[in-house]
Amino acid sequence: MKKMDDESDEVATRTRFVLSPRRGCGLLRFEQRPEGLTVLPDDGKAFGAITVDLASASILRRVQQGRGGLLAKAVLPAAGAPMPLVWDVTGGLGRDAMTLALLGCEVVAFERNPFVGMLLLDARSRALKEGGVVAEAAARLQIRIEDARSALGDPSSIEEPPDVIYLDPMFPEGKKSSKSSGKGSGKGKAAVKKDAMLLRMLVGEGADPVQDEELFTLAMQVAKMQVATNQATTARVVVKRSLRAPAIVESPPPQASFKGKSVRVDRYRSSS
Ligand SMILES: C[S@@+](CC[C@H](N)C(=O)[O-])C[C@H]1O[C@@H](n2cnc3c(N)ncnc32)[C@H](O)[C@@H]1O
Repeated sequence: MKKMDDESDEVATRTRFVLSPRRGCGLLRFEQRPEGLTVLPDDGKAFGAITVDLASASILRRVQQGRGGLLAKAVLPAAGAPMPLVWDVTGGLGRDAMTLALLGCEVVAFERNPFVGMLLLDARSRALKEGGVVAEAAARLQIRIEDARSALGDPSSIEEPPDVIYLDPMFPEGKKSSKSSGKGSGKGKAAVKKDAMLLRMLVGEGADPVQDEELFTLAMQVAKMQVATNQATTARVVVKRSLRAPAIVESPPPQASFKGKSVRVDRYRSSS
């Protein structure tokens, strides 16, 4: 048995590959750790390691804010109305998707990067085993490892149209405002910044305003289609931005904006 463990350790440390051709990016490796699938730099430097935890302190803290949280304000319908089906088209590390699932939404999270997708799938399967509200929420969270533009751009493939489409594009690199303060996450600010750097290395790309605009335009088309072909009177597109960033497109302007300390959540509505 000991021999098997040694062998699997060896396999884990041999699983090294360059994930990003960007300048300054080193090798990353995946390890199966007791806390879950983890990605970390391969050079042994003690900086950053990502294990997705869908029941993290920062997610639970946001859920505790209930309807008072920024995401909840932008996404949730009036109290008493049925909970929406949300498409999170920039799944990332699943924090927003799981927050919405814990608040009671059905969520489909799209993530186009297969490595990030693997971390998400691993986190979901651990959350399902936790039992209680975390497992119930994880059961409401579906993960699709694919580029959301394919699904949004092919209306015939959409069996159940979303009530809300949520976008949280990458922030431009070097922007002072970080989307996550680290407060309540159990990590200091420096560690959160290192995690953000590691995510950029993993995803291998930074902000891409042209792609973001395309994603938004497709999302608005699907929202309009939802209003035109179903009984729905409104469908929402919700976009997270850094606090002082311009809106994702020049026109139309958001119908409402909800501001936090470092981020803003813009809501667009397609009405009948
Ligand atoms: C800033 S992160 C999102 C963070 C996420 N909201 C969270 O709570 O962890 C952006 C993510 O969107 C993904 N992404 C960007 N464009 C996408 C697309 N067209 N389809 C699917 N995923 C996309 C990127 O790979 C990246 O992981």
